[in-house]
Amino acid sequence: MTDLADLSSNRPGGARTARRVKGLAGTLAAPPDKSVSHRALIFSALAAGESRITGLLESDDVLATARAVAALGAEVSRDGSGAWRVSGAPWTSPAAPLDLGNSGTGVRLLMGAAARFDLEAVFTGDASLSSRPMARVLDPLSQMGVRSESADGGRLPARLFGSSRLKPIEYTPPVASAQVKSAILLAGLGAEGETIVREPHATRAHTETMAPLYGAHLTVERDGASAVARVRGGAPLTAFDLEVPGDPSSAAFATAAALICADSAITLSGVMTNPARFGLYVTLQEMGADLTLSPAGARAGEALVDITVKSSVLKGVDVPPDRAPSMIDEYPILSVIAAFAEGRTVMRGLAELRAKESDRLAASAALLQANGVTIELGEDTLVVEGCGPDGPPGGGLVQTHHDHRLAMSGLVMGLGARAPVTVDDVAMIATSYPGFFDDFAALGAVFEAG
Ligand code: S3P
Repeated sequence: MTDLADLSSNRPGGARTARRVKGLAGTLAAPPDKSVSHRALIFSALAAGESRITGLLESDDVLATARAVAALGAEVSRDGSGAWRVSGAPWTSPAAPLDLGNSGTGVRLLMGAAARFDLEAVFTGDASLSSRPMARVLDPLSQMGVRSESADGGRLPARLFGSSRLKPIEYTPPVASAQVKSAILLAGLGAEGETIVREPHATRAHTETMAPLYGAHLTVERDGASAVARVRGGAPLTAFDLEVPGDPSSAAFATAAALICADSAITLSGVMTNPARFGLYVTLQEMGADLTLSPAGARAGEALVDITVKSSVLKGVDVPPDRAPSMIDEYPILSVIAAFAEGRTVMRGLAELRAKESDRLAASAALLQANGVTIELGEDTLVVEGCGPDGPPGGGLVQTHHDHRLAMSGLVMGLGARAPVTVDDVAMIATSYPGFFDDFAALGAVFEAG
């Protein structure tokens, strides 16, 4: 068994430069899904008995959640790579602040899950997480009876006073957010009655899919783009063994590289094909991408596909705003791909990108401009003038603002652009994709230090 305090992912830092490469080839197992990994730890930590998780994503974000649930009272141990055992217990006040690092999912879901216990917990995070809005979770939790004190109108650090007498609420989140929805549903597991979350535009439903596996009484009704989730509080949760499916958001980077680098053909195996996560791949097919999807079974109730990607001549498209929830993390890499298309790509409905690990809308626009791509940036829109298959000029220095998805997008840009692209710092890649450098090396792409 490994001591959790000693666990951190392999985290190379500093600048890296990516140069044009041809002929990416090989097969990669898609990295384990981050959203499912957080939830597997949280549900297992709430459930009676021992749950075994296999293929857990061992990224910095997920490790922070593992440490937090251990500090809240669960017994957590690691048997080997990705193989974890978690025994749940009623949660109690942690002895020290819970530091969720860079992870919005970790902190927001844990606030919701902790809300239903008579405990007091302080939540902290890094500079990026401390600047992100937490009132979107603390406000509905306060309607349920949770008291909290937070910095600066709803930022971290936040002190939360949970209660075993939570009131159920009926809530429509003002922004499309799976994190907000999940925090309320997790709190609702302990409320006295039925908690209802209405979403006009349904977001990823991993919490809803996974809760019944652990015995929760949770149902979802879908009607077109909207969904209503209902959870009845008080059902005892019991242990469940789960294997984590592959992450479509992480697989997007190798997919993009194969599309824009000449003479490439790669396969990503075991990618979760959940429609609420698959918007990028739908968009790529509309752009003319050569993607072949073959069914590859299921894990944790999620259908999987193997995706074969070949270099493609792409055309610009109009990405509708109602697709945003299904590809919210993929706009930085889609903007890079769009720079290699013929014609313009228009992306709308992107306001939420400004509240991510960085202002991803402004940062994606700056990434493209630094590499000679013409763009138009609006309040919640981005238009990219594609440079065609020979790609943009490149030669830029990408400011990542300590955002993992910006760092990976900048490196992928450099693999296809006409001149090398440098990314200011790659340390944050370990928050979501610690195997990024090994995976890209296996496909034939090596990044230079500096
Ligand atoms: C996540 C939800 C999304 C996404 C994040 C993971 C989740 O955030 O950006 O990477 O696991 O619930 P929002 O729900 O705030 O959009």
